[in-house]
Amino acid sequence: ESYDMGGHDTFMHKEIAEQADAVDRVLRGRIDDRFATVRLGGLNMDAREARAVRRVKILGCGSAYHAGLIGAQLIEELARIPADAEPASEFRYRNAVVDPDTLYIAVSQSGETYDTLAAVQELKRKGARVLGVVNVVGSAIARETDGGVYVHAGPEVCVVSTKCFTNTAVAFALLALHLGRIRDLSVADGKRVIEGLRKLPAQIAEIVANEDRIAALAADYAQAKSMMFVGRVRGYPVALEASLKLKEISYIHAEAYPASELKHGPLALIEPAVPTVAIVPDDDLVDKNRATLEEIKARSGRILAVAHTEQEKADHTVVVPRNEPELDPILMGIPLQLLAYHTALALGRDIDKPRNLAKSVTVE
Ligand code: AGP
Repeated sequence: ESYDMGGHDTFMHKEIAEQADAVDRVLRGRIDDRFATVRLGGLNMDAREARAVRRVKILGCGSAYHAGLIGAQLIEELARIPADAEPASEFRYRNAVVDPDTLYIAVSQSGETYDTLAAVQELKRKGARVLGVVNVVGSAIARETDGGVYVHAGPEVCVVSTKCFTNTAVAFALLALHLGRIRDLSVADGKRVIEGLRKLPAQIAEIVANEDRIAALAADYAQAKSMMFVGRVRGYPVALEASLKLKEISYIHAEAYPASELKHGPLALIEPAVPTVAIVPDDDLVDKNRATLEEIKARSGRILAVAHTEQEKADHTVVVPRNEPELDPILMGIPLQLLAYHTALALGRDIDKPRNLAKSVTVE
């Protein structure tokens, strides 16, 4: 992959289109079918050390933080280690308790984000073990961490992250699988997740091939005054990232909420000029999510659902292919990258260089 646009009108469009290949690259050479696990040579952590981890704390900023939220859920689900993610920009200022049994993970596309680097340096000073999930090889965060997983997304030029976000989530799935298989994740579950990972590139290509339908929808949603993004559990980080991306490049105000929180306040915002994008995977929470769609409809809200099947209560549904439920967030984010892109295009925005933003914030 190179630094030219390769026939696309923007780097963002090129980078969205490259995702099937990028995911193929983050998986390549890492899957170990014999033991239904993955090999991550750069972790610098043997099985005994990995088994001693009692908690995982993931730190990053912006889209990297959102990918970290997906990572924390994957680690809890597959490895059954308590895990959470926090903005590195907050963590570094709150004199957090640094726990020797916690594995800290810094996430960054550039590897140069100052807030994330400062959090790593503070953790290292206090004796913590810190891994990096980083895209740029040899970057400051990659150098300062004890080991990690390279994301192998290739160069990402557009200010907003697309392929690196997706690859980071996949890198976390690999790490979660590795940590799970040296704990209690069964061979059968290991194989199930590996099969799911292998399906991702073709499924991503299928979503991207449906771009025209999303472009048609975006022409309509571009008129919105504000947009709401909602998801439950696995869907919530997808909502956060989709909302950030829309804001960054279209300048339409957007909010992301856990679907369960709507009735605790933000439902007051719902009206026809404030459409909702709802993440509705066909998992054990599907009935709860459908009830949320009904609540929104009852307030005359318009709904765009991202789901595995057409949603009766939604005005429009973008159907994504099924995979293993743990991997749903990876696929469900992709149509929403396209929604942000086409909304910004319809509004004539400078997509690769949105106002007021830099690709990486390397200063205080
Ligand atoms: C660009 O504005 C991104 N959306 C931004 O949130 C970015 O993810 C963040 O600044 C962190 O960058 P990094 O991944 O290079 O550390």
